[in-house]
Amino acid sequence: MGISKDGQKILAATTAIDSLIKEGKIFSGMKIGLGTGSTAMPAVKRLAQRIEDGTLKDIKAVATSFQTTLACEELGIPVYTLNDRAINGTLDLAIDGADEIDPDNNLIKGGGAALLREKIIAYNSSNFAIVADSSKDVKSLGTGFALPVEIIAEARVPVIKALEKLGAECVLREGVKKAGPVITDNGNLILDCKWKSPVNPHEMEEKIDGIIGVVECGFFTKIKPEVFIAKSDGTVERR
Ligand code: A5P
Repeated sequence: MGISKDGQKILAATTAIDSLIKEGKIFSGMKIGLGTGSTAMPAVKRLAQRIEDGTLKDIKAVATSFQTTLACEELGIPVYTLNDRAINGTLDLAIDGADEIDPDNNLIKGGGAALLREKIIAYNSSNFAIVADSSKDVKSLGTGFALPVEIIAEARVPVIKALEKLGAECVLREGVKKAGPVITDNGNLILDCKWKSPVNPHEMEEKIDGIIGVVECGFFTKIKPEVFIAKSDGTVERR
């Protein structure tokens, strides 16, 4: 039967935090970006445990969403913004989850609608680590998990037309327990976009981010993360 998906998320997250501490990539006094979602959360919890047991001191965290800010506040992890003087716009490491990972470690992110802050934080970090269960490991991007694209509400129709020209089918993300669309932490809308055949994620990231009215898309191709993928047999692949 093997380890459940939720078990794999915890395994990937705790293995990543513990290994990165052992290797000196997570260290006292560092500035760390903390991701969003059900795999990033156990990583945040593990980090809090390692602060509490005295292994790590003077950690400065920057959160990628309200969800993560709340978790840091509850767990006692000091949380800053990227603009605070103590952070000064750069981080030592960002650790986060992903919706899909291809063999070159290109990612789709944004299933939790936090892609904009996640990308700002990842692209301004010296190192980037991804934690995931085995279902996220895919051969290609574009046809499976729909790519989230954060857009300005005012530009919805022209942006959809431009994305359709790039071959995508777009669906406006609807809220749960809220009438109408999802509004992101930044006050924008999300389009979920799928293609009929796989796309080149690097080319597509450039093209989509060039559309007027797009704030950011969920392809992450410009900084290659180190990936920790937990398997149902209890092992963790690192690549
Ligand atoms: C949040 O917007 C996302 O980028 C998450 O990192 C991604 O959706 C993975 O989430 P889970 O770990 O919950 O699957």
